[in-house]
Amino acid sequence: SHPVRDAYGLWLVSVICEIWFALSWLLDQFPKWYPINRETYLDRLALRYDREGEPSQLCPIDIFVSTVDPLKEPPLITANTVLSILAVDYPVDKVSCYVSDDGSAMLTFESLSETAEFARKWVPFCKKHNIEPRAPEFYFQQKIDYLKDKIQPSFVKERRAMKREYEEFKIRINALVAKAQKVPEEGWTMADGTAWPGNNPRDHPGMIQVFLGHSGGLDTDGNELPRLVYVSREKRPGFQHHKKAGAMNALIRVSAVLTNGAYLLNVDCDHYFNSSKALREAMCFMMDPALGRKTCYVQFPQRFDGIDLHDRYANRNIVFFDINMKGLDGIQGPMYVGTGCCFNRQALYGYDPVLTEADLEPNIVVKSCCACFHLQDGRHTASLKHYASISS
Ligand SMILES: *[C@@H]1O[C@H](CO)[C@@H](O)[C@H](O)[C@H]1NC(C)=O
Repeated sequence: SHPVRDAYGLWLVSVICEIWFALSWLLDQFPKWYPINRETYLDRLALRYDREGEPSQLCPIDIFVSTVDPLKEPPLITANTVLSILAVDYPVDKVSCYVSDDGSAMLTFESLSETAEFARKWVPFCKKHNIEPRAPEFYFQQKIDYLKDKIQPSFVKERRAMKREYEEFKIRINALVAKAQKVPEEGWTMADGTAWPGNNPRDHPGMIQVFLGHSGGLDTDGNELPRLVYVSREKRPGFQHHKKAGAMNALIRVSAVLTNGAYLLNVDCDHYFNSSKALREAMCFMMDPALGRKTCYVQFPQRFDGIDLHDRYANRNIVFFDINMKGLDGIQGPMYVGTGCCFNRQALYGYDPVLTEADLEPNIVVKSCCACFHLQDGRHTASLKHYASISS
């Protein structure tokens, strides 16, 4: 009712914007039409592969933790991540934890050595009392009644002792961090007097140290602990190192030689396992007799600590993890978000390009109009041809 004749340009721009927003909203709805909720049955997995009194048939898993700069990513946080992995509820001889140190920092190396020592006490404590989560910082932070559901009278005493042990561990880590603030002029020197090979983070040889392994890696109860391996890949000037992706590739190769687990799981150094059953959850998909062979990776959602109660700034990414990803699962599968993902090693290596008769079996035949939509693994054309030939 109040036309402004000389603002015609503004009017036009705003109408175009409105139309574009409407269109993009509409496009945004398409991937959400068919959300999928999946449920795991850990008891069935155990019945199939992990029966009481028999050797476990669960597949070995290599877990990668990536870290770069220990002054920006505090070693105590990395230590908590590593501890939550070492204490995971999975056969110990099938768990290997690799820590990639892309900053070749002696601080990371030394704090990992302390973490390995502390794990000898922490892991049996977690397993004995079914502690959750198994990252000590977050376990001791919980404001819950920790005596609920606990029946052993010794628990209170052991918990108190463990809390004290953890406080002392923290002090040792903090001392290492304090020491690392000022680099000595001649660079870092290791405990045995030799120079730290990673003194120049842009030019150093590859370094691998196994902290816990089959021999000597026993906890205080005399049980085996999972393997813990420190890896800092070789860096030379003039070569493109591709940051985290390069580090992941290096870990894939190192782990292939050392343990060659059938599955890989990667986490960032500040992403601890909130559930000790996480690996079993992933195996429910990966080792599923029907769907396992077609599953390339299982992406875990991320959950966050320390966000304000009402999450005013949408920091939890709920729309992404709980709506969009489930919708994508209904199309072909969720996307990989760079962390918290369990991969089938063989799928990463690539399948043999020479297709056999069995490979040409259609994965899923959907009787509706768009069968092509549901065929996976990049074998669209081959599968389609075969599909055509069986239907003709
Ligand atoms: C960790 O798991 C517990 C128990 O399932 C849950 O209550 C808690 O919210 C989880 N923590 C985060 C950060 O999601």
